[in-house]
Amino acid sequence: MNEPRLSNRAGLEAVVVELKRLRRAGTDAVYLGDETFRRIKALAAGAASGAADGGDPEPAPPARAPEPEGGSGSGAGSIPEPPNLDLPEGSKEERWNWLRERVLNCPVCTAHARVEQGKKVVFGVGNLDADILFCGEAPGADEEEQGEPFVGRAGQLLTKIIEAMGLARREVYIGNIMNWRPEMPNRASGNRPPTSEEMRFCLPYLIAQVAIVQPKVIVALGNTAVSGLLGHDPSRRMGAIRGTWLSFQGIPLLPTYHPSYLLRYANNRTKRQVWEDMLAVMDKVGLPISEKQRGFFR
Ligand code: URA
Repeated sequence: MNEPRLSNRAGLEAVVVELKRLRRAGTDAVYLGDETFRRIKALAAGAASGAADGGDPEPAPPARAPEPEGGSGSGAGSIPEPPNLDLPEGSKEERWNWLRERVLNCPVCTAHARVEQGKKVVFGVGNLDADILFCGEAPGADEEEQGEPFVGRAGQLLTKIIEAMGLARREVYIGNIMNWRPEMPNRASGNRPPTSEEMRFCLPYLIAQVAIVQPKVIVALGNTAVSGLLGHDPSRRMGAIRGTWLSFQGIPLLPTYHPSYLLRYANNRTKRQVWEDMLAVMDKVGLPISEKQRGFFR
């Protein structure tokens, strides 16, 4: 089917409008396949050189939401069916150690993480008896270097949020939907959200961590984490669902903005919203809340 053709200017404006809409809705990163990226660059170059409206050789590229079905340009085509996991009997520590070994040696994870190039597969960390499990999306550059979730700038902010709740980082459990940093073929830097296939592959590893820890509450950090846990829903908007109790594997789940979204776009309103979400989490797990804590970001 022929796609309608847009002029350079109209095409770029449509991309910008869509990106702004996604940002307002709480999306802090969008994945562009290499081909789409190439087309946008060509479109921008055409617009900058004053190419006449209506003369586009190519149709305008669609702005891509974070969870593309199929995921071109990511090696996602080579993602096999998710693993079947049978946790062994034993204590929490024994089962967690078994699972950790299994994930760190998972051939799909090690291949995609590029372990042979010195990068690391990233598994969850924290208290196996934690009441609160924070779930992010995928490791970034710092995490794949250190082999621990949330150790970069976003992680430092997450740690501050945890401390503002009156807890130490080691008292909660922190995991990700993904166990490797999604590859960016042909690009030296940057991150992209994982594809649905990638998240589907890694999900049993997160479900097993949830089964071991049995937290009272899961905090899903960002829309991608929510999609990974609950399935992709293109109409789901973080601005609409944050602070609303949902459920994952029978455990109350609260979506909130991802710390990297806060780092990029936070204003007092979004900071307060995340803090209200954390107050709701504290309330749910029976943590004491001081008047000072109630007043943060007011
Ligand atoms: N962002 C995530 O979602 N997870 C990490 O581990 C780091 C950054």
